[in-house]
Amino acid sequence: MAEENSSFQSVKWDNGQIQIIDQTFLPDREVYITLTSAGQVWEAIKMLRVRGAPAIGIAGAYGLYLGIRDLPESAFKMFYSECNRVADYLDSSRPTAVNLSWALQRILNTIYVHKEKTIPELKEVALKTARTIHEEDRRLCKSIGENGVELVPDNANILTHCNTGGLATGEFGTAFSVILHAHKKKKVKMVWVDETRPLLQGARLTTWELEKAGVPFTLNIDSAAAFLMQNGKVDFVITGADRITKNGDTANKIGTYGLAVLAKAHNIPFYVAAPYSTIDMKLDTGSDIEIEERDPEEVTHIGNKRTAPKKVNVYNPAFDVTPNELITAIVTEKGIIRPDYKKNFEELFS
Ligand code: MRU
Repeated sequence: MAEENSSFQSVKWDNGQIQIIDQTFLPDREVYITLTSAGQVWEAIKMLRVRGAPAIGIAGAYGLYLGIRDLPESAFKMFYSECNRVADYLDSSRPTAVNLSWALQRILNTIYVHKEKTIPELKEVALKTARTIHEEDRRLCKSIGENGVELVPDNANILTHCNTGGLATGEFGTAFSVILHAHKKKKVKMVWVDETRPLLQGARLTTWELEKAGVPFTLNIDSAAAFLMQNGKVDFVITGADRITKNGDTANKIGTYGLAVLAKAHNIPFYVAAPYSTIDMKLDTGSDIEIEERDPEEVTHIGNKRTAPKKVNVYNPAFDVTPNELITAIVTEKGIIRPDYKKNFEELFS
């Protein structure tokens, strides 16, 4: 069991149901909701009640169990095809983060491996695998933090984007875990938090987590990042990832690519932190990644208030892709990976 670090858990398996912090209420209210069906899990992922690549993998894994636990006794073939149907349904909630399809596929594979067992036993196999994925993520995120500390100089001024903390993972976070572990070693002077338009994961969630952890931070609008760098206020940038392809190209929250270009222009390291489940060895390059487009209202409204004229055309991609050549290093639970990513990932996965 990983050591308890935070006063919250974004996803919890509790007495046969999932409990999540509904992140749409943060930072105003810490509201916990329970999910008891695959349909509710699909909705919670789609609406970003639970969000962040590893956390949606964990929620999806439990969601698959919820979707199959009441299936009647049947031949394995019929049971397995229902499992696949529920997995496909859950996977359709959000396309970009590979962790969701990775977790679902891992459960399907484990069920298949145990196909000689009875249907009730196979359901238990699914639940056990979901719990393993959850527990594993907590351990991996801790290791990511421990491994990343060596990249952090003393008195570091760090810029980060979106939310990569305990809310987005099983615990500790990814990029956030590096910041957290560096803070424990008294290396962090300031964390600059991009507000992260349009859904403000930085302003609403990262600040909430940094405050709880006692890490010094300042919130800035996304477009202030260049000015901060120009004025020597950023030593390095670190973000999470939703999917990393074979060659190191990295999809992450929209705006990440811009930060990587800026970091290059100002000669500042740009780091990515992610667990192995985010590395998709099935895709060759970033252009193969499906980028989620979200509701125009996320752009035309702030909360319930309209901020653009009615019927304007809106383009609202939720993620962008940072080419590998802009990434100084990728921090994983297995250590720090530097270019050539293709070669080094192949070694890692062999
Ligand atoms: O749309 P979101 O809030 O799910 O996007 C999350 C991100 O882009 C995170 O940076 C990424 O999932 C890494 S989280 C550890």
